[in-house]
Amino acid sequence: MKIYERYTDVELAAMGLPGEMPKHVAIIMDGNGRWAKQRLMPRSFGHRAGMEALHDIVREAHCLGIKALTVYAFSTENWQRPVQEVNALFGLLTEYFEKEIDELDANGVRIVTLGDLEPFPPKVKACMLSAIERTKDNDGLHFCIAINYGSRAEILRAVRNISKLGLDEKDITEELVSDNLYTREQPELDLIIRTAGEQRLSNFLLWQAAYAEFVFTDVCWPDFSIDEFRKCIVEYMKRTRRFGKVVE
Ligand code: FPP
Repeated sequence: MKIYERYTDVELAAMGLPGEMPKHVAIIMDGNGRWAKQRLMPRSFGHRAGMEALHDIVREAHCLGIKALTVYAFSTENWQRPVQEVNALFGLLTEYFEKEIDELDANGVRIVTLGDLEPFPPKVKACMLSAIERTKDNDGLHFCIAINYGSRAEILRAVRNISKLGLDEKDITEELVSDNLYTREQPELDLIIRTAGEQRLSNFLLWQAAYAEFVFTDVCWPDFSIDEFRKCIVEYMKRTRRFGKVVE
C-alpha cells in the first residue's frame, strides 16, 4: 500500500507551482466515451480507463496539499444512458472503493458524496456508505464524489430544507444556503477543470462556482495525467482573482 508524501515547497517551486495552491478543485471528467470510440472499444472501456486515471489524480491532489477534490462521476441526467453503460458505471464505482479504500483510508482521505444515494442498487449504496462511514473522522484530503448529482436538484433540496425552518426572510442568507449544500464542509471552490474540450458546467456546482476559475483542456479524461493536472494548476496560479473587487 502506498503512503502519499506531501511535496515540499522546494519541490513545488521546481514543478513551477510556487503560488497559492487552490484549496478546492473540482473536475468534470469528460471524454471517456470518445476516448474509447477512438480505440474502437465500448464506452465502458473508456470509463474503466477513467477510473484508473482517477487513482493518480487523487494521490496527486493529496501530495500537492489540495484540501478538497470533487469529481463528477454520475449526473442526475446520466440515468438516461443505455442500461449497460449505467450498470458498468455502478460496477466501476463499487470496484473502485473495494480496491482503493484501504489506501485512501491509510492516507487520511475522507470520502464524501454529493447527490442522492437512494436510487442506487443496494450493493453500490452499501459500498459508498461504508466508505463514508469508515473515513468520516479522517482529516486529510476530502475526496468528494458527485453521484446522482445535479446542481439544480442540490439547490432545490437546500431551499426545501430551509423552508422547513420557519425563518424570517432576513435570516435566509447566502451562508445558510451554502450550509445546506452537499459541499457545506468543504472550502470555497477555487478551480473547475473540464477535460475533453467542452466548455460548459453541465449542472455541476452552479452555486459553488460563483468565483471559481475555469480551466478547460482538450485531453480526454482517461489521458488526464499528473502532468496535465499540474498544468491546470499552473494555469490557475497565473490568474488574478478579483472577487468583484479592484485589484491593482
Ligand atoms: C463522462 O464521459 C464521464 C462519466 C459520465 C463518468 C465518469 C466516471 C469515471 C471516470 C469512472 C468511475 C468513477 C469513479 C468515481 C470510480 P462521457 O462518457 O460523457 O464521455 P463522452 O462525452 O466522450 O461520451
